[in-house]
Amino acid sequence: MLGSTCLLWLLALTFSLVPRAQPLAPQSFEEEETVPPPVPCDYDRCRHLQVACRELQRAGPVACLCPGLSSAAQPPDPPRLGEVHVVAEEGCAVVHWCAPFSPVHQYWLLLWEGRGAPQKGLPLNSTFRKAELKGLKPGGTYVVCVVAANEAGESHVPGAGGEGPQGADMPAFGPCGRLSVPPSPLTLVHAAVGVGTALALLSCSALVWHFCLRDRWGCPRRAAARAAGAL
Ligand SMILES: *[C@@H]1O[C@H](CO)[C@@H](O)[C@H](O)[C@H]1NC(C)=O
Repeated sequence: MLGSTCLLWLLALTFSLVPRAQPLAPQSFEEEETVPPPVPCDYDRCRHLQVACRELQRAGPVACLCPGLSSAAQPPDPPRLGEVHVVAEEGCAVVHWCAPFSPVHQYWLLLWEGRGAPQKGLPLNSTFRKAELKGLKPGGTYVVCVVAANEAGESHVPGAGGEGPQGADMPAFGPCGRLSVPPSPLTLVHAAVGVGTALALLSCSALVWHFCLRDRWGCPRRAAARAAGAL
C-alpha cells in the first residue's frame, strides 16, 4: 500500500516536472542568440553584376560567410559555361557563365568558327556573368569558351591554340560549349523558292515531253489510232 502510494507520488512528481522543465529550453536559446551564428553571404556566383563576396563581407553589418577560394598566387580555375541564348534574326547570342571558386580579375570570351583561329572578346570586369556575341552568321556553328584571369595568369581552355576544343575536350560544366545559329527565315524562303522553281521546271518539261516530243517521235498506241483513223 505504502509502495503504490510512493509510486503514484513519484509519477505525479515526474509529470509536474516535465512542463516546468520546458520553459528552460527557449531561455537557453535566447542566451545563444546574443552571438548570432554566421550566415552565408548573399553571393551567387552565376548572378550577373555580382559584387565579389569579400566586398559583401566588408560592407555588411555582420561578417557573413564566403565560399573558399583557390590561392591568388595561382591562375583561376575555369568558369562554368551556362545558358547560351541564340537570337538567329539578329545574328547574336547571349552567353551566361558562373564564376569559379578562385579570385578573378577579369573575363573574356573566345569564339571559334570551324577550324579558324579564335576571336578574343573584349575584357569584362569580375562582376560580369553574361556577354553578347554579335555578327554570327545564319546557319553557322561555333565553339565559345569563357576565360577567367587574375594577376597570376588565365584559366585553362581545353584545346586552345588552333582549332578550339573538339568533342571529348568539351566536358559538361566546363568553360566551353557549342553554339549553332539556325538558318535565317530568309534563307528558308530562298530554299523554298528554289525547290518550287525546280518542281515547276520538272512539270513543264513533263508537259513539253507529253505534247510535243511524244507526238513527233510517235507513241505506239497513238500512231496505231491515227493509222486506224486514216483508213
Ligand atoms: C564592372 O562593370 C560594370 C558595368 O560596366 C560597372 O557597373 C561596375 O562598376 C564595374 N565594376 C568594377 C568592380 O569595376
